[in-house]
Amino acid sequence: MRKLCIMISALLMLAVSATADERKTIRISTDNTDMILQVNDKGRLYMVYLGDKLLNASDADKLEWSVYTGSDGSVSRRGHEAYMSSGGEDFFEPALAVTHADGDMTTYLYYKDSETHAIDGGTETVIRLADKKYPLEVTLHYAAYEHQNVIKAWSEITHNEKSDITLWRYASTMLYFNEPAYYLTNYHSEWAREAQPTTQKLTYGKKTIDTKLGTRAAMYMQPYFELGIGAPAQEGTGRAMLGTIGWTGNFSCTFEVDNVGGLRVIPGINPYASDYKLKAGDKFVTPEFIFTFSNNGTGEASRNLHDWARLYQLKDGKGDRMTLLNNWESTGFDFNQEKLAGVMEDAAKLGVDMFLLDDGWFANKYPRNNDTAGLGDWEPNEAKLPQGVAGLTAAAKKAGVKFGIWIEPEMINPKSRLFEEHPDWVIMQSERDTYYYRNQLVLDLANPKVQDYVFGVADKILTDNPDVAYFKWDCNSPITNIRSPYLKKKQSNLYVDYVRGLYNVLKRLKAKYPDVPMMLCSGGGARCDYEALKYFTEYWCSDNTDPYERIYIQWSMSKFFPVKAMAAHVTDWNRGSSIKFRLDVASMCKLGFDIDVHKLSESDLKLCQQAVANYNRLKPVILDGDMYHLVSPYETSHAALNYVSKDKSRAVLFAYDLHPRYKEPQPNVRLQGLDPMRVYNVTEINLPDGHKAETKSYTGDYLMKIGLSVLSASDGTSHVYELTTAN
Ligand code: DGJ
Repeated sequence: MRKLCIMISALLMLAVSATADERKTIRISTDNTDMILQVNDKGRLYMVYLGDKLLNASDADKLEWSVYTGSDGSVSRRGHEAYMSSGGEDFFEPALAVTHADGDMTTYLYYKDSETHAIDGGTETVIRLADKKYPLEVTLHYAAYEHQNVIKAWSEITHNEKSDITLWRYASTMLYFNEPAYYLTNYHSEWAREAQPTTQKLTYGKKTIDTKLGTRAAMYMQPYFELGIGAPAQEGTGRAMLGTIGWTGNFSCTFEVDNVGGLRVIPGINPYASDYKLKAGDKFVTPEFIFTFSNNGTGEASRNLHDWARLYQLKDGKGDRMTLLNNWESTGFDFNQEKLAGVMEDAAKLGVDMFLLDDGWFANKYPRNNDTAGLGDWEPNEAKLPQGVAGLTAAAKKAGVKFGIWIEPEMINPKSRLFEEHPDWVIMQSERDTYYYRNQLVLDLANPKVQDYVFGVADKILTDNPDVAYFKWDCNSPITNIRSPYLKKKQSNLYVDYVRGLYNVLKRLKAKYPDVPMMLCSGGGARCDYEALKYFTEYWCSDNTDPYERIYIQWSMSKFFPVKAMAAHVTDWNRGSSIKFRLDVASMCKLGFDIDVHKLSESDLKLCQQAVANYNRLKPVILDGDMYHLVSPYETSHAALNYVSKDKSRAVLFAYDLHPRYKEPQPNVRLQGLDPMRVYNVTEINLPDGHKAETKSYTGDYLMKIGLSVLSASDGTSHVYELTTAN
């Protein structure tokens, strides 16, 4: 019997390979990766390969289908369907599940056609699939960025059935792996404790990372992960994938190890409480899932993502970034025109580019003097700011700095004029007890009128005050008491339509004000995803600016985002640490301050001024260079990173001692990414009391093989070294 089974399966294998030449093959390639899809004899589309780029194009035609022999000896050609739908012949988690207008719950997708065209930085392959029984189409998109080795995948679902269909699974894509072992590193989060990694082996069954916050993706769980293939992901060695979802709302990513040890990765919008009613003729577009592979560890994969983001995704990714002084930590809600004019002069004294006014500047009937009132009423508070925003931009001009302003336009306090006028614009349950998160509720962005209103908040500020140079756009509440007055009987569309409504607003703003930089903030770092970053130049990583904690948060986040997109401020959190330590930590990202400058001693002020000047000189290296994570704070009691300019002529090394143990050995830190043959002049900078360090010269080879002794046993110390080439 067993022999017979083997013979049948061998024959079937032959039959399968015999038809290989006739099969339509679609190849999606970057410089290092190939994803190969094929249409089988029944017209269905399968993923037959995802891995290192094949050197010989013809090898793609020799790929075999996965052939399974069942316990009863039956043989099936159950390949990996590219966008697997429910109710068919695969018994694992599907990418797509539909209840059709007539109540039928099966969908079978067949290949229709495909094309590949050039896009900025690569190619986009578009594949159309359709059901034969129902007028339902799915279009798969794969954008491949050759040199950065990044692929973005998303899908579109449309139909022409007699009435609404219900989508209850709608993944962005589906990826398959057949490897000996898989290790997932995901990042759990909390307010002020963002992006904490945890690694586990994936075993048979499912592991899902997800959130259900409505307005944001990233509190409790970040929308990104590392996948170690064969072994846990490492910084400098081994095969790894980095993946992230561009969606500013409920996301989910399921990792399912099937009965034969294959891994299926299914990323997308979280379908939780979101059975989506799709009208005939409407298009459901999923978020983009962005991924990259490396055979040399996550470090190389991170640099791929950084380059790709700066070139093709991040708003003004190639542009400069402004340093700033924010007033949230120093004044809170307690300020007026005069006080702020003083802070603007402090900004000029520090040498930063801009003053950023935070929460508390608006609302009159219910003044915004704390977080219980005023959200929604975006007119300047007359008691605090009698000359309005115009008075502030004038003061900024006088001080010689730019002016930026905080808004939180998606939110409302019940104590506001807006709430009195438009209770129907608010997501809430009027007949139940209301649960308030930070005393506020969320506006119903599914409603186009509310979208107009939210757009109008930013538009009016910029129209009335063209000198406003920057927005900090905050979002301090998840969706609570979920009920949209606008969606009536289609409540299960709310989580998705909210985010789409937000994107409508952001698209309009970007179209009208393409050059206004904006910081994305969400009660710390709960909004940081690559779709939002099409509209924002940077995001706030965390309200936790204690430099010890920030090192960990920034370390994790910078695996997925270029530091150009990560705002970091010098504040008084953990005042016990020296100003130098705080400066050095914030200088690794997009530098800002949120301190009372008057409380700085003269020598601390001098150090800040000097650090700003150093940062301005080093910005091209830090913000646009290649980043190398050298010594991990998660594995040692130190941290070290270096940045190298693209032409390798300049570099910066940051080294930190966190909580070293008594007599702990301090090995040299070996730099990475330098030119081994060039000589680098190495000078320590950001030194207190105007101290000038001696410059020493080393070859890149020495620095990378022998390294520098830059770690010490003393708690909370840091060193920054500037490297320039001598030849
Ligand atoms: C939360 C943000 O994370 C803070 O930086 C600050 O802007 C406050 N909101 C203001 O309410």
